[in-house]
Amino acid sequence: MPTPEDVDAFLTETLVGADPAGESVLAAQHDAGLPAIEVAPVNAKFLHLLTRIAGARRVLEIGTLGGYSTLWFARAVGAQGRVVTIEAEQANAEIAQRNLERTGVADRVEVLVGRGADVLPTLQGREPFDLVFIDADKESNELYLDWAARLGRSGTVVVLDNVVRGGDVADADTVDAKVRGARRGILMLGSDPRFDATALQTLDRKGWDGIALAIVVDPAETDSD
Ligand code: DHB
Ligand code: MG
Repeated sequence: MPTPEDVDAFLTETLVGADPAGESVLAAQHDAGLPAIEVAPVNAKFLHLLTRIAGARRVLEIGTLGGYSTLWFARAVGAQGRVVTIEAEQANAEIAQRNLERTGVADRVEVLVGRGADVLPTLQGREPFDLVFIDADKESNELYLDWAARLGRSGTVVVLDNVVRGGDVADADTVDAKVRGARRGILMLGSDPRFDATALQTLDRKGWDGIALAIVVDPAETDSD
């Protein structure tokens, strides 16, 4: 009986295929001792396709790690596009910067080092982002969703990673800080009039988890429907 890992291997091999640049990023971050919590290749490609489907030219990523998802966003926005990615750990940001340079996309990526709470306000006044990917400390999900709405526009795509956490998100009494963050993110997406959202459970090489997908809406326009 095939396992979810077998399915992940089949899908990755068939639909993502050989990706020397992506694999070199994964190898470099593994060698540097970073935790293997980057998005799985099938999910990275999902984000890449979503970016292309949305026609996004400006992507904001919160949580760079070693730059694996960043590379896939950079490929999706094309040579004229821009990815701004925020990383709290200086050491991770340096690994990501080197990875993006080696894979030839550093010219379209800005790696900003600092905590989201400090860096996000500095992005005010820039052209709105077309897509925002939130994949950082789960405790701050609400703060990041708020900034995603503020730095986006009506129609901006927002993706929030790790919203299922092995099913624990359905446990209202959980004491796990990351699960509580995932729950608060989902609750905010369900109640904040600036978002229209859903979520999908995922099962890949990292196990059972999920992503929330939202679009930023203008509450005034929604009310008058
Ligand atoms: C964790 C964080 C992630 O972004 C992820 O995709 C998986 C796990 C974590 O901190 O446990
Ligand atoms: Mg994640």
